[in-house]
Amino acid sequence: MQEIIEALEKRRQEARLGGGQARIDIQHEKGKLTARERLDVLLDPGSFEEYDMFVTQRCTDFGMADKSIAGDGVVTGWGTINGRMVYVFSQDFTVFGGSLSETHAQKICKILDLAVQNRAPVIGLNDSGGARIQEGVASLGGYAEVFWRNVQASGSVPQISVIMGPCAGGAVYSPAMTDFIYMVRDTSYMFVTGPDVVKTVTNEIVSAEELGGAATHTIKSSVADAAFDNDIETLLEIRRLFAYLPLNSEEKAPRVQVNDTPERAEMSLDTIIPDNANAPYDMGEVILKIADEGEFLELQREHAGNIITGFMRLNGEVVGVVANQPMVLAGCLDINSSKKGARFVRFCDCFNIPILTLVDVPGFLPGTAQEYGGIIKNGAKLLFAYAEATVPKVTLITRKAYGGAYDVMASKHIRADVNYAWPSAEIAVMGAKGATEILYRSELGDKEKIAQRTADYEARFANPFVAAERGFIDDVILPHNTRRRLIRAFSTLQNKRAEMPPKKHDNIPL
Ligand code: HXC
Repeated sequence: MQEIIEALEKRRQEARLGGGQARIDIQHEKGKLTARERLDVLLDPGSFEEYDMFVTQRCTDFGMADKSIAGDGVVTGWGTINGRMVYVFSQDFTVFGGSLSETHAQKICKILDLAVQNRAPVIGLNDSGGARIQEGVASLGGYAEVFWRNVQASGSVPQISVIMGPCAGGAVYSPAMTDFIYMVRDTSYMFVTGPDVVKTVTNEIVSAEELGGAATHTIKSSVADAAFDNDIETLLEIRRLFAYLPLNSEEKAPRVQVNDTPERAEMSLDTIIPDNANAPYDMGEVILKIADEGEFLELQREHAGNIITGFMRLNGEVVGVVANQPMVLAGCLDINSSKKGARFVRFCDCFNIPILTLVDVPGFLPGTAQEYGGIIKNGAKLLFAYAEATVPKVTLITRKAYGGAYDVMASKHIRADVNYAWPSAEIAVMGAKGATEILYRSELGDKEKIAQRTADYEARFANPFVAAERGFIDDVILPHNTRRRLIRAFSTLQNKRAEMPPKKHDNIPL
């Protein structure tokens, strides 16, 4: 028996070496960890249980018959993050460049099937040269099997992708269908067609980093939700994100003990709104002042800064935050911010995360670029997402809520549950100046008269009371009490039940 045990251990040792020490050294020289080292950082110490360590590829073409490496380029299994279960796969670039063979795909598929069946999230660490070239269509079939499972799992268990090396060609579509993508700066890239093909087809000369590096995808394309400087930092940030997520669509996100009091008053919020209604202030500061322990995990921070999305806790309970940011484009809604907000709202709704909406929005961004780009359909995404969301929704208007954007930003009319306003709120069809110019066009030559008309309009609408008189606003609250009032509002919604009418699925304007 001793010999058998030793033989097992030897096989395990060989498998753990992946593509061998030389290739591991190259991986390290690039500043990258190996597939297993990454799992060590991601998961709780000693929690990882590996499956399919001895699986090998079956291809015999192109000299592959005698080139099998145990594990076939992906390490799979499950472990825990802060004691909570998660399924994982981690592509091993030292084995055939982490390329995806039929068996490599089968290992990932097994993990996705188990995750859906056993109701736990999946985290995929991607570092791969794409389809295993020697296998041809068998590899393509493998990818499609993974894609199909990503879709089955979507909205059922959270799926997170971490891009830690190359991710090119059709391979990008598995991460693209997961809930969150984090990237590592300088060592990861994602694109459908690489720089060489781009040059041949369009004559554009572009580096891999420019085409699909972390900056491109966090700032321009919004494909990625966040990027960090190295493997370790990125994986630790994934652990932080994981703490805000429930294990599956039937559960709530975990409540944690926090070092903060629900009653904490924040006097500085009473003076945060500038006297000049057109002057900006930082909505990020409002968020930090309300949140438990001043902690906020922001997603898509570098894209569409006119809307802020992310997670905070209120009295230990996870809340998804969507907030207009007056510091960027005056907080206007545009195509990018609508898409960003909508996707986040839908994630929260899938996974029972209540939504806090902080509103300071002067309207939709005007212009041909917006209209030609389809602001109608894209703005509708956010409206649709809010209207279909059945999770608890609490809205606070801090200052402007003008026009259609008032309706969109989780107004009472699209079924927010509790709607508050600060005394500084202005809820109107549009700003006083614009309104007066339309209503009193014939008087435009008379500056004094127009100033009086503007002041009249402001006096009537630049406050929350017209809306409060109609019950569209449940209460006008003092800014320094915001945290306490929000916590109390969410606590009333803990057992909320809301159903959509029977349907197969809705038809959100994609
Ligand atoms: C088989 C591969 C491979 C692949 C890399 N390798 N990609 N083997 N299939 N797709 C192997 C290399 O032969 C090499 O083996 C080892 O992995 C490391 O690769 P290097 O080229 O030495 O590494 P590096 O210089 O870092 O370059 C990484 C790379 C490059 C940029 C990813 O390897 C590359 O361009 N690979 C091909 C990418 C590609 O075209 N894939 C197919 C895309 S189409 P040795 O033995 O020398 O160490 C696709 C379709 C998906 O993926 C469709 C889904 C629907």
